[in-house]
Amino acid sequence: MRKKISLIGAGQIGGTLAHLIAIKELADVVLFDVAEGLAKGKALDIAQSSAIDGFDVNLLGTNKYEDTKNSDVIIVTAGVPRKPGMSRDDLLGINLKIIKQVSDGIKNSSPKAFVICITNPLDVIVMALQKYSGLPKNKVVGMAGILDSSRFKYFLSQELNIPVKKIRSLVLGGHGDSMVAMIDHTYIDNKPLIEFIKKGKIKKEKLENIVERTKKGGAEIIKYLERGSAFYAPAASAVEMAESYLKNQKKELPCAAYLNGEYGVKNLYAGVPVIIGSNGVEKVVEIKLNEEERKNFDKSIKSVQELSDAAVKIDQNLA
Ligand code: APR
Repeated sequence: MRKKISLIGAGQIGGTLAHLIAIKELADVVLFDVAEGLAKGKALDIAQSSAIDGFDVNLLGTNKYEDTKNSDVIIVTAGVPRKPGMSRDDLLGINLKIIKQVSDGIKNSSPKAFVICITNPLDVIVMALQKYSGLPKNKVVGMAGILDSSRFKYFLSQELNIPVKKIRSLVLGGHGDSMVAMIDHTYIDNKPLIEFIKKGKIKKEKLENIVERTKKGGAEIIKYLERGSAFYAPAASAVEMAESYLKNQKKELPCAAYLNGEYGVKNLYAGVPVIIGSNGVEKVVEIKLNEEERKNFDKSIKSVQELSDAAVKIDQNLA
């Protein structure tokens, strides 16, 4: 039987997700939004491209959770995106309320789904989504690390004039200004990035700029767009996670996952490498961090913890 993916939020990311999923024929798609016309219009528009692109999936736009019933995967983008000058943290109060509603909808209609959260501020919203919905922790995961790593790899490829495909790297920690690019775990054409620095092929300052640009990758796009935030790369990242789950690919991907002692962190969601297969988050992969990476990772965790404390202040039920 064909799989079913429901997208909660049919805005910029939701629409792009629907299009990508359809073109890949990954699953039937339900686009859900409180703005019913938006969901219906996008579903119909994409469906009308099927005769051209030759894909065969059903697309439905709705504002009823009933239509999302028994989804295999749910991708949540419902919320308010950042406006210029607004930090991810400012969004917390508004988006927590939205996520409470969404969690109730998921709990009632698709309690067995694999749920991928994109709504910001990511690490805390995904934690709230898990708590409000009561779904198992290995079935609720946040999309951030793939996007941040992809931005980092792209900037490196531009600087070094090497195809992105030849670059391996990952960005961990919270999805915010404290995210940590793992320099020691970055390989260019299978050679450690460190060697490139030693040989002077990339200057330390240049690398620092790239790390900084990665951290502010989302803000750079918001500034250009003026209205709304990035959507192509975030959607592509979430599709990679959904595909690994649906096809049991067991890919190792950096995601915001629930930590229960791994990396010395307990009872918090944060960006770490995980294996995604048909059981959801099947494993948190613990890579060895060097002193600098450890220090920066801990700093990042501290900021996630602070945001989590702020969320608990807004709603005691999240404690
Ligand atoms: N239930 C369902 N959908 C909702 C709800 C709700 N309670 N509240 C708002 N929405 C919908 C809005 O109607 C809108 O169509 O969520 C959609 C969000 O879409 P956009 O505003 O276009 O935002 P987008 O760019 O897709 O980003 C979504 O991802 O990267 C993060 O920070 C970003 O939190 C934001 C989210």
